[in-house]
Amino acid sequence: MSKILVTGGLGFIGSHTVVELQNEGYEVVIIDDLSNSSEKVLDGITAITGKTPLFEKLDLKEKAGVEAFFAKHNDIKGVIHFAASKAVGESVQEPLLYYENNISTLVYILKELKKLPEASFIFSSSCTVYGQADELPITENAPVKQAESPYGNTKQIGEEIISDTCNVVPSLKAIALRYFNPVGAHESAAIGELPIGVPQNLVPFITQTAIGLREQLSVFGDDYPTPDGTCIRDYIHVVDLAEAHVVALKRLLEGKNKANYETFNLGTGTGSSVLEVVKSFEKVSGEKLNYKIVGRRAGDIISAYADTNKANDELGWKTKLSLDDAMRSAWKWEQKVRAEQ
Ligand code: UD1
Repeated sequence: MSKILVTGGLGFIGSHTVVELQNEGYEVVIIDDLSNSSEKVLDGITAITGKTPLFEKLDLKEKAGVEAFFAKHNDIKGVIHFAASKAVGESVQEPLLYYENNISTLVYILKELKKLPEASFIFSSSCTVYGQADELPITENAPVKQAESPYGNTKQIGEEIISDTCNVVPSLKAIALRYFNPVGAHESAAIGELPIGVPQNLVPFITQTAIGLREQLSVFGDDYPTPDGTCIRDYIHVVDLAEAHVVALKRLLEGKNKANYETFNLGTGTGSSVLEVVKSFEKVSGEKLNYKIVGRRAGDIISAYADTNKANDELGWKTKLSLDDAMRSAWKWEQKVRAEQ
């Protein structure tokens, strides 16, 4: 079976994707610098799949290290590139760190892929490229808006770098996957999200509040023009998201792509408000969540959810899991993490 490199393969989405790849029989090599992950995640992957992927601790900013890696693994057929920094606020404070971490590393990898007789490349992009779209649900044809942060800009620039490269390197095929809001954990609770410090994202903040690690969830604004006044997002179960990566990779490996560079939205197609997420959590956990409405968070868009037609029809992929499933798995994971501490 083909050998696939997964960068950032010990992270949240990366680890779930490694599981799905191994379940499909792919041979996986992980590169991770452990800056926002732990080597223990390998145990979780092994517990689920019965197989330990190869792992190389490497900082992709070290160009010579990237070259040496590809010289050693010259039989790699595809790369799924997750490794990147993703904290929006931090990116505003440290733009150069974000451009170096997210852009220079991408360039180094593409330079190596260019040397291979054939290569398939899957890029972690984000619905953040659309900003507040004028029309909902958001299709892949919605215009890319001026980025709100250096982090968002790295996703836009990253897509452009890949597209420009595919234009002139016929042996390279790529897909950018634009994720909506990934949440949840593997149903086994062997892997999940491990935020370092205070979580910025909604779902880990909810589960950490319910377990007693945080006092209260602040709901950022209830005066938006939405049915209950809170912002609306498209929360996609991380296992569904992981499966989409395998489907996208297969599309490239089997030559079923329609162009050398393609983009797909990955979402459920359903928008949920912050309060609906809280309600879903309370329902599946049986816990009462301590939350309070506070002011809006700067930079938040009102509403974003995916038009899933292109992914459904072209990729032949569909989400199977619900928001309740995601909240149930996130809660099971949180309980397991705290029990082990
Ligand atoms: C955020 C980033 C986005 C990034 C994504 C990665 C911002 C403005 N956007 O998306 O660029 O691609 O994470 O996962 O940071 N909320 C609360 N209380 C909280 C946390 C969140 O009410 O403590 C609300 C937010 O206002 C928002 C929703 O929950 O309406 C989801 O927030 P979050 O999980 O941070 O995701 P995004 O803002 O969609």
